[in-house]
Amino acid sequence: MVLELADIDWDNLGFGFVSTDYMYIMKCSQGENFSKGELQRFGNIELSPCAGILNYGQGLFEGLKAHRKYDGNILLFRPDENAIRLRMGAERMCMPSPTVEQFVEAVKEIVLANERWIPPSGKGSLYIRPLLMGSGAVLGLAPATEYTFLIYVSPVGNYFKEGLAPIHLIVETEMHRATPGGTGGIKTIGNYAGVLKTQSAAKAKGFSDVLYLDSVHKRYLEEVSSCNIFVVKGNVIFTPAIKGTILPGITRKSIIDVAVSQGYQVEERLITVDELLDADEVFCTGTAVVISPVGSIAYLGKRVSYGRDGVGLVSQQLYSALTSLQMGLTEDKMNWIVAL
Ligand code: COI
Repeated sequence: MVLELADIDWDNLGFGFVSTDYMYIMKCSQGENFSKGELQRFGNIELSPCAGILNYGQGLFEGLKAHRKYDGNILLFRPDENAIRLRMGAERMCMPSPTVEQFVEAVKEIVLANERWIPPSGKGSLYIRPLLMGSGAVLGLAPATEYTFLIYVSPVGNYFKEGLAPIHLIVETEMHRATPGGTGGIKTIGNYAGVLKTQSAAKAKGFSDVLYLDSVHKRYLEEVSSCNIFVVKGNVIFTPAIKGTILPGITRKSIIDVAVSQGYQVEERLITVDELLDADEVFCTGTAVVISPVGSIAYLGKRVSYGRDGVGLVSQQLYSALTSLQMGLTEDKMNWIVAL
């Protein structure tokens, strides 16, 4: 049987929500483990106004993608890594979490159920958004009494409106995304609401997004609101080390391995703003963003441009290597692809 694709404009996908046919839901009570989930028609969910997620932010999310290969096969990229990260976050947020196997099986089920929403090869991907939340009622501050693991999906194109053209960042010097000992290193929902104010202010000034500094020294790079940052100087690529305040991005981790396999020296360490301003090239990585070259960075009234506003060679090379792998155009030597 030939699959009929959903009737949408596949040539103009951005990163906006498109509702699809099904969502996946699995629930468990506090103190129990998740056992059996099910597909449901996509729609609104019912929550007590007193739910832990609504009152105290007891929630995590993940993001991963499915690509349609040129031969029609469907490819997932490292879904086990998202499962592991969700479990780490759940531990920090006092929530039960699905096992890695349950998570990966649920992702496969939801993707296959929504197959007609996966963009044609080369036109985008199906973004998969797992949520883990305290859905039970809780009035006094405590872990919720019930938990819901939910996955929905949406076909997506480029994250930034610039597409693959370079984005423009501003370094935030007053507000911070995370603090040592806090929750910056997990994908909890509150980390994202907290950056909206600075992000909106940056956008109003014409920037694409904000780059955060560490909250102690106000000097070392952390991450951009929705992605990790990499700095290139000569044949060396550096990125801030994971130390609890930076999201351990799966694209970040993959790009490090791809870069090393291509002969680059990669350093995970503290990076000062001065090094950033002195770089040859800068780029961001994330599941949604993939790799986004940075054209310029503003810091304390100065503005530094990279590569005459073009896409840097290293960003271009790593982008091609990663996306070719994700779309099944090159051999998966790392064993990262799960074909459905
Ligand atoms: C992702 O890259 O998948 C994310 O979760 C970032 C989100 C803010 C879109």
